[in-house]
Amino acid sequence: MLKETVNVSKWLEPQARFERIRFEALRRFGPKLCDLSYANAYDGPSDQLRQILHDAVDSERSLGFQYTPYGGATLTRRRIAESIRPVHDLPWHWEDVILTPGAMAALNVAFRAVKEQEGDEVIVVSPCWLDYPLYLENLGLKPVFVPVESKSMRIDLKAIEQAMTPTTRAIIFSQPANPSGVLFEERELRALSEMLRSAPSQPTLISDECHRDFVFDPHRFVSPAQFWEKTLVVYSFGKKLFLQGQRIGYLAVSPRHERRIELRQSAVQLCRTMGFCTPTALMQRAIPETLKMELDLQPIERRRQRLIETLPGLGYALRPSDATLFLYPRVPNRDAWFWTEKFASLGLLVLPSDVFHHEGHFRLSLTATDEMIDRALPIFAQALSEVRLGAEAEGRE
Ligand SMILES: Cc1ncc(COP(=O)(O)O)c(C=O)c1O
Repeated sequence: MLKETVNVSKWLEPQARFERIRFEALRRFGPKLCDLSYANAYDGPSDQLRQILHDAVDSERSLGFQYTPYGGATLTRRRIAESIRPVHDLPWHWEDVILTPGAMAALNVAFRAVKEQEGDEVIVVSPCWLDYPLYLENLGLKPVFVPVESKSMRIDLKAIEQAMTPTTRAIIFSQPANPSGVLFEERELRALSEMLRSAPSQPTLISDECHRDFVFDPHRFVSPAQFWEKTLVVYSFGKKLFLQGQRIGYLAVSPRHERRIELRQSAVQLCRTMGFCTPTALMQRAIPETLKMELDLQPIERRRQRLIETLPGLGYALRPSDATLFLYPRVPNRDAWFWTEKFASLGLLVLPSDVFHHEGHFRLSLTATDEMIDRALPIFAQALSEVRLGAEAEGRE
């Protein structure tokens, strides 16, 4: 065990506990396991993407696989900047876009860039993506959790206002939200921006947009970057392209940010200082072609629909997701770990809400195969009936 200089173990433990459950379930069920936990795309990337990757490998430029500059290859940054201008309605310049090996690195760079002093605070809207507090703690920043409104799962502006202090440097949330699947609305984001503008420390907004390509009708993605100048956008190509292991994403500094030039320079330096370097040369070369690809949402939408229609009838209350690769049902009773272990004992993997610093829910990933979902539905029913029978036998219900 490494000797810890900062106390990150409490943020590492929930996922480590889940990994032990996963390992045991894999050992017991092997390929029969229904894995609805992580967003691993069991269908794999599309044929079109495989062809783009082949073409990138076959290209004959002799320096094609050598180091690229910190921040990434200019051509790739330029193409990305062009492609996101209509997404945010902002005049992105290629230097605003700093390429990183996935969103994890971009998040670390963003957090480090907003830090002024040890112990500066960052508001984390929870439930949240699992490793935000881990990174913050490791960087000497203090995560301040502000839960969403418990019923609607929407952002709680009053609670955010109350949590802000003169040392609040940033606020982070994912839009659309992982794990809840909620897409915040324009009016909420506008109101949040107004609040940030009038706050004493004028915090930076870190908008994690890894799931913005997965939005279901009639919802529409809106980025907070459209309303608050001090926004840093974090994005990963891993989700849209279904190749999370290939590690390419970016941090983008809003063109309207008053410290735009300084921040984008320091982000490039931080990629070096923190040792993240750049995404691989191969992926940087492939990305411009992938930007032209249309995402086929049908398989995700089909699985989402199936689960939304079936789970409530089986006894699992559910707020239909607006977006993302996930559904986030409530647990019927007891805690989320109890249900995660129960499902795993029957051959079904889900992620408990504790991993997302939240209670009373579990997350299902729609990247499992249709066949896994077919097999998972009777397991949901069986788990609940076994628990009810067990409780009756003990005279508890
Ligand atoms: C909201 C969110 N942020 C960040 C990440 C990390 O992305 P990457 O694997 O590209 O580093 C993920 C991945 O699951 C995510 O869902």
